[in-house]
Amino acid sequence: MEIESANCKCRVSECTDIERLSVERPLKIEREIDGLENLVAELHSVFSKDHVNIQEVQKLMSGYKSDPKHWRKYAKFDRFRYTRNLVDAGNGAFNIMILCWGPGHASPIHDHADSHCFMKLLSGSLEEVRYEWPENVQPEVMKRMNKRQSRRCCSETNDISSNLNELNITFDENCQENQDGDSDCEDGDYNVQSMQEIGRTRLEIDDVCYINDALGLHRMENPSHVDGAVSLHLYCPPFDSCRVFDSRTGKPTSVPVTFWSMYGKKIKRVIAANPADGQE
Ligand code: SIN
Repeated sequence: MEIESANCKCRVSECTDIERLSVERPLKIEREIDGLENLVAELHSVFSKDHVNIQEVQKLMSGYKSDPKHWRKYAKFDRFRYTRNLVDAGNGAFNIMILCWGPGHASPIHDHADSHCFMKLLSGSLEEVRYEWPENVQPEVMKRMNKRQSRRCCSETNDISSNLNELNITFDENCQENQDGDSDCEDGDYNVQSMQEIGRTRLEIDDVCYINDALGLHRMENPSHVDGAVSLHLYCPPFDSCRVFDSRTGKPTSVPVTFWSMYGKKIKRVIAANPADGQE
């Protein structure tokens, strides 16, 4: 089965049909959606069903044509780092937010906490840089796949291991992660392994992209030294912490993710960090 039939109401590692990951391809917009509010309403209706296809969400997000008058009230910038601004909490099934990137702002290399991540560029330009998982750290989806693999008969096992090879994910079993998202490796164990870049994509206005932990890690960057950028992110299921990775060593750190504003209102005090705080 292909990725578009994976149910994104489930965590990535619980999708029984995500073992074959197809290459993303440009999607044909079937229907235009007029306004961000209508997009959110359509998403609520899609997520009220038991099964939500990845492609269904991608198509809806592509069908919305960005217009600042729809999203300006959520777009709150900070001078020092990118901001996360909640638009809708999606009845707990998803959340959708607007991220504002000042000139040169970037997110750290991070995972997606076993959730699905959809992203649409609303203004400016952003570059997505993808990385392989460091050797010592394994995403939840691969742990589950390894378990399923050991339960299968030989012919099925071959299929899955070739898929793992396609994804270039390896795992050192002597170096397990603990519950905080860190692995039991000593700091020194990470020095040999720097993060391997596996691709770069420049997003233009209205482009939509998708990532999950089986596809790798990523960071986003506003390449402009002058202009801001604004993006729309949908996460399902929503998560409140993820792991950021030291770009030199691959060492993971679990960090909480929080909002700069909610429903257009600035939050008075930022209690905890967003992923950007995991790095200098
Ligand atoms: C991203 O770089 O994909 C954004 C991360 C976030 O949600 O803070």
